[in-house]
Amino acid sequence: MAQTTLFSRTQIDQRVAEMGKQISADLAGNEVIALCVLKGAVFFCTDLVRSMSIDVAMDFIQISSYGNQKYSSGVVTILKEPQLDMKGKHVLIVEDIIDSGLSMREVFNYIESRGAAKVKTATFLDKPKARKVPFHADYVGFSIEPQFVIGYGLDFAEKYRNIPEVQVLSD
Ligand code: PRP
Repeated sequence: MAQTTLFSRTQIDQRVAEMGKQISADLAGNEVIALCVLKGAVFFCTDLVRSMSIDVAMDFIQISSYGNQKYSSGVVTILKEPQLDMKGKHVLIVEDIIDSGLSMREVFNYIESRGAAKVKTATFLDKPKARKVPFHADYVGFSIEPQFVIGYGLDFAEKYRNIPEVQVLSD
């Protein structure tokens, strides 16, 4: 398998800092919860909240994984529920990647059902051409082609998450 760099550490740091600044400006004055979608978004989320200049609470949700498959099964279930009360809060769902859109749609609808005043979405990577259901994120780090990417939290069969940069994995 070949691994080639798509986004370097420098590019990632720059972009995440810009996103944090933008999100802070947009959400200032509200009670904000950053909701990290486990596991892939952990790296992006911790960087993002540290680049934000407003108070932000943190919580976590975990949804069903692809397992060892490269493609989604299409069935999304919630494995770990968030603990904080979302009522009246501005919830920023933080994802590492949006592919088919199925995961984000599920999490979005679930958080809305928990009574959030506003639900916003931030994804580090977006693959708009891979959508199976329409989903538009409010904040996108980088838009990419439908290629298989690893690193900065993104895995293949639980491997490669700890690569600091984003790489394309090809056969
Ligand atoms: C990845 C990613 C998103 C989802 C995106 O998670 O973190 O949650 O897939 O794909 P979709 O738009 O097609 O639903 P995964 O299920 O691999 O779990 P992980 O974050 O624990 O690696």
